[in-house]
Amino acid sequence: MSKASNTRILLARRPQGLPVPEDFRIEEAPIPAPREGELLLRILYLSLDPYMRGRMNAGKSYARPVEIGEVMEGGTVAEVVQSRHKEFAPGDIVLSYSGWQSHALSAGAGLRKLDPQEAPVTTALGVLGMPGFTAYAGLLSIGRPRPGETVVVAAASGAVGSAVGQIARIKGARAVGIAGGPEKCAFVRGTLGFDAAIDRRAPDFAARLAEACPEGVDVYFENVGGAVWDAVFPLLNDFARIPVCGLIAQYNAAPPFPGPDRLPPVMAQVLTRSLTIRGFIQREFADQRPAFYREMGQWVREGRLRYREDIVDGLERAPEALIGLLQGRNFGKLIVRVAPG
Ligand SMILES: NC(=O)c1ccc[n+]([C@@H]2O[C@H](COP(=O)([O-])OP(=O)(O)OC[C@H]3O[C@@H](n4cnc5c(N)ncnc54)[C@H](OP(=O)(O)O)[C@@H]3O)[C@@H](O)[C@H]2O)c1
Repeated sequence: MSKASNTRILLARRPQGLPVPEDFRIEEAPIPAPREGELLLRILYLSLDPYMRGRMNAGKSYARPVEIGEVMEGGTVAEVVQSRHKEFAPGDIVLSYSGWQSHALSAGAGLRKLDPQEAPVTTALGVLGMPGFTAYAGLLSIGRPRPGETVVVAAASGAVGSAVGQIARIKGARAVGIAGGPEKCAFVRGTLGFDAAIDRRAPDFAARLAEACPEGVDVYFENVGGAVWDAVFPLLNDFARIPVCGLIAQYNAAPPFPGPDRLPPVMAQVLTRSLTIRGFIQREFADQRPAFYREMGQWVREGRLRYREDIVDGLERAPEALIGLLQGRNFGKLIVRVAPG
């Protein structure tokens, strides 16, 4: 089934707060032809991730922004359809970073061949890909959970959080998950096997979290910030470790932020409770990728580490799906099926 044109989704303008569909533009362009040393990819799956909201803003963060009129960035799983590159052949399935489009050229750099016999190819975007690696490296290198300790993570049914809690349990710690709504909490507790799951939308959320952590919190894997941070902070034990992975609750906010400046009391607690708070971007730990593929691959094969994918059909639905992710409407690793595999 070959398509006559390349469907691309571009950034149309910079969002104010939560993105709206008009911030994106869909267009058709000719399918490019590979030159010597290049290959043409047909995108099968596109990963949607919270960092994409940051790329829509002007100004440098840890990566350059997407410019207006450029194709939105993103990780993809793709099939090689034409190859003028000696290491790739038509039919190969690869992990690539081709963005929100149906076709892309590549010179081969940064591609990773995937073996569909080894694991479903979508896992390369989730549990066995960047989000899974983020959980693995951030938790084990910064959080360093010990047997019997309590590890708390929010967005616990999502790509990163679900792996954080399960790895914590594999390491002998107690895992307490925070998720939005009773259905997600039932999944976190029942299917993923966390020791407790607390609904962040419940009116008595902070009290229920405290009840679920009777011995305090030794590792808080920070995925969201905002009200969840406020509820976890008083529960932190002396010498607690806080890998700061994401702050999704504030990705749509712009300064000045509401509320009083709480930095002085927070810093006082950092001092008196000897807290370690460390931000990270997963690629800092690139040297751990071989260990990650080996260990996580094994845990997933053994059924010790479970995952859930939320697959949306059709590239044109990517904008609404990303907008939903920023409000907690996804349930599991969010992936767009761009073409039939
Ligand atoms: N540092 C790094 O290198 C790195 C790499 C990958 C991801 N991250 C970060 O890790 C976090 C999780 O990413 P993910 O890919 O695993 O996404 P995800 O958990 O699959 O999806 C995002 C989830 O965030 C929660 N959420 C959305 N808006 C929220 C709000 N206003 N307040 C509280 N929670 C909210 C929702 O879960 P509930 O409905 O269950 O609350 C939503 O389902 C994000 O902050 C992301 O930026 C960081």
